Amino acid sequence: MTHYQNLAYEVADGIAAITVQRPDKLNALDAATIAELGEAMRRVRESDDVRGVIITGSGSKAFVAGADIAELAAMGSIEGVAVSRLGQRVFREIELSPKPVIAAVNGFALGGGCELALACHLRVAADSAHFGLPEVKLGIIPGYGGTLRLPRLVGRGRALELILSGEMIDAAEAHRIGLVNRVVAPEALLQATRELLLTILRNGPTAIALAIECVTRGMDMSLDDGLALESNLFGLLASTGDMREGMKAFLEKRQAEFKGE
Ligand code: COA
Repeated sequence: MTHYQNLAYEVADGIAAITVQRPDKLNALDAATIAELGEAMRRVRESDDVRGVIITGSGSKAFVAGADIAELAAMGSIEGVAVSRLGQRVFREIELSPKPVIAAVNGFALGGGCELALACHLRVAADSAHFGLPEVKLGIIPGYGGTLRLPRLVGRGRALELILSGEMIDAAEAHRIGLVNRVVAPEALLQATRELLLTILRNGPTAIALAIECVTRGMDMSLDDGLALESNLFGLLASTGDMREGMKAFLEKRQAEFKGE
């Protein structure tokens, strides 16, 4: 059993709930916490009893209020590159996880916190949540993939407005521009996120994993290369017991029982 200093990691009903726990710093991500997130994702990958992940922040005020500014304040150029690459690597692992990952955004999701939510496959927000990329107010730019993932999600104009102004938007506006999938009352956040994930987990796990791969890698390919990837993975699924079970269950008018094989 791995012990984390700044994370809680709990598994129930096939879902690993990862909670960033630095409440006195509004769950700001220092290097140690980012490394722990990477370790937690390794554990998710290797645990057969985990089929999906929820990432959230402790307390009701913040999801993650950004990278730890006190730690960043002392960096020089070489450290700056290393800091950015560590965060990028861990967030990319989240984005490429074959097991679906949903951010339950319970408060401020700023800077690296907004980028963490962007790296997740889906985002559910409390109506009290706020989003923003305020890095330019500190004289830097987003360094954990925000300049790439935000325009892919909401379009270049909206992304540039958020990145250049550094201003926050509330959950309703985040929903309007497609930055979050759902907005719910704060007290319903974890349950709503869990229900969305359980809906996904009722489907064939290999199909889910390959759908994530097609969408995530396909976004960065030419249409022709993406279509080739899609047809190859579609063909791969035709060799699975899950495909046979899914289609047989439909024809027999019953729920499919997927085994991930
Ligand atoms: N890094 C380090 N510490 C942070 C932090 C961050 N990103 N965000 C908040 N904290 C710390 C504060 O320094 C404060 O610590 P202290 O009690 O030891 O002084 C504590 O968390 C509480 O934050 P505080 O600013 O007092 O809360 P607030 O309610 O007045 O404001 C925010 C909340 C989120 C608006 C404000 O904390 C903020 O702007 N944070 C920075 C956001 C940011 O720029 N993120 C991008 C980083 S690259």
